[in-house]
Amino acid sequence: MPLRDAIQARRSERAFARRPLDLQTLSDLLWAAFGPISAKRRSAPSSHNRQETELYVLLEQGTYRYDFEGNKLIGVTEEDLRATSGSQDYVGTAPLELAYVADKRKITGKTDRGVIETIYVDTGFISQNVYLFCAAEGLATVVRAMIPKDTLAARLRLAPEQEITLVQSIGWKSEEK
Ligand SMILES: Cc1cc2nc3c(=O)[nH]c(=O)nc-3n(C[C@H](O)[C@H](O)[C@H](O)COP(=O)(O)O)c2cc1C
Repeated sequence: MPLRDAIQARRSERAFARRPLDLQTLSDLLWAAFGPISAKRRSAPSSHNRQETELYVLLEQGTYRYDFEGNKLIGVTEEDLRATSGSQDYVGTAPLELAYVADKRKITGKTDRGVIETIYVDTGFISQNVYLFCAAEGLATVVRAMIPKDTLAARLRLAPEQEITLVQSIGWKSEEK
């Protein structure tokens, strides 16, 4: 799909088919989100190229952290944490909840406010990549800031310096619509 058409088709959707994502689609999505383009460069920019954003992949069969270099999923817990990633009714109905987690230990020489600005802006670029990938592939998605962050951080076993910025719900479009 030409970029112009993907931009035109991009929108937030909150209804999802139950069908899980196949592994190839998941792999392509994670690469588009923030995957490696070359030894140093990723698919999205980041301040000072610090690449502090980690992707946590919340699926029915368990929860994983995406290993960008190895292009593989590292197990975090066998628990299905999708429903714990938000308070809205539809949360947990998508086959994938993608949690953006910033490792603030990678950001030095900034004020507290500077750190916050950096991690949220950097997450925004990745989320937009996911939006455009979903538009091009016929997937439904919505990014979310309404997250019970303390609860989810504990379930993801995050360190205090790892901050959840946003979560994005992703799945095939609902057949009912
Ligand atoms: C930073 C940010 C936070 C958002 N948080 C939520 C959220 O918590 N729940 C939700 O349903 N939608 C959320 N959205 C989606 C917006 O409501 C949506 O992007 C907006 O209504 C515009 O619609 P569009 O994306 O279809 O253009 C968020 C969007 C952004 C950019």
